[in-house]
Amino acid sequence: MSGGRCKSKDFGAAAYWDARYSSVSPAGGGGGFFDWYQTYPALRPLLRARVPASSRVLMLGCGNSRTSPFSCSLLAPMLSEDMANDGYEDIVNIDISSVVIEQMKEKHTDIPQLKYMQMDVRDMSVFDNESFDCVLDKGTLDAMMCADDAPDGASKMLEEVARILRPCGIYLLITYGAPKERVPLLNKGGCSWKTTFYIMPTPEYQSKMSEGAPQPIMEEVALTKDGQLPPDYVLKDPESHFIYVCHKSNPADRVNIKDTDPEEMI
Ligand SMILES: C[S@@+](CC[C@H](N)C(=O)[O-])C[C@H]1O[C@@H](n2cnc3c(N)ncnc32)[C@H](O)[C@@H]1O
Repeated sequence: MSGGRCKSKDFGAAAYWDARYSSVSPAGGGGGFFDWYQTYPALRPLLRARVPASSRVLMLGCGNSRTSPFSCSLLAPMLSEDMANDGYEDIVNIDISSVVIEQMKEKHTDIPQLKYMQMDVRDMSVFDNESFDCVLDKGTLDAMMCADDAPDGASKMLEEVARILRPCGIYLLITYGAPKERVPLLNKGGCSWKTTFYIMPTPEYQSKMSEGAPQPIMEEVALTKDGQLPPDYVLKDPESHFIYVCHKSNPADRVNIKDTDPEEMI
């Protein structure tokens, strides 16, 4: 997955992920832990500002991500583990791969804040409506866009996300998908999102720019009325990640939606 395009249909298949997480070789994606995109230290300022530690959080497609792209330690924590260590109280982790869910359950038996369930994000019917404050997605919508049923499966996932989020809850999406690919998808889910948008260069680029010491660089960018990047905007790092902080609209505010500045809605 890179540049918003799907490089392999495999990323949408449970069998691929089970094999990857079962593999003992790093080349197969196993043999340790792999963090896609950004790490907790880089995301922390945004998360702490937007998601209180008392929130009930759902981690979509949790995988087994470790915290530092600069460390190869098998013991390094994954995003959810870092969050729990940082005071987050209730994180439900789901993944389609039963292999990774069993691995993570075993690894985190002593962290009661972390729960694990094998589940397909296209059907989260075990969760009640409006039962989460925040849904975190680091690379899972991107995987769904590689599935045989894309984009329908991805839209089903987004409908489910909107259903299980409480009004004003947050869907925080970290993706390779630029607004021209992701905004139409977000708009299809039957939910009005009020979105703040950020661009974050890859950890490798950030490290290069800061001459070795990783320096998180996160730039807030105002999207156009159509939810697109400003036409003259140039990405510093072409492999940058995009972060969409999507607030679910409050039904109590719906009467005023037609009066809302369209620039604020995507
Ligand atoms: C790109 S990886 C990201 C893993 C983790 N979020 C991270 O940042 O390191 C995508 C994850 O989505 C999971 N996944 C793919 N399709 C899924 C589906 N339909 N339902 C639930 N999880 C899925 C995969 O098993 C994999 O762990």
